[in-house]
Amino acid sequence: MYLCICKTVSDQQIRQAVSEGVRTVGEVSARFGVGTECGKCLDDIRAYVDACLVDVDAGLAELPAVPGPTPIAVAKPAPPPVTTPAPAPAAWFAIDL
Ligand code: FES
Repeated sequence: MYLCICKTVSDQQIRQAVSEGVRTVGEVSARFGVGTECGKCLDDIRAYVDACLVDVDAGLAELPAVPGPTPIAVAKPAPPPVTTPAPAPAAWFAIDL
């Protein structure tokens, strides 16, 4: 999953960087340029780096996965109503006006 869309930097890249010794969002930015365009990713990247560091400091082999987006319930559309065609006239007739 991309954590920085502007620089197309994924959680896996950041996780790898943390395993290689990166410890701050500033160091992540220096390595990948995250946060240097719109900056909207910085809070999420900071939280992700912190989560990775907790596990690295604890000596855990597995680093945390990035939580995915919350699924949105989509209502299934109701089927169209069943309509019966109007019955055909029994017989045609003419009217003089
Ligand atoms: Fe990271 Fe825009 S999403 S700088």
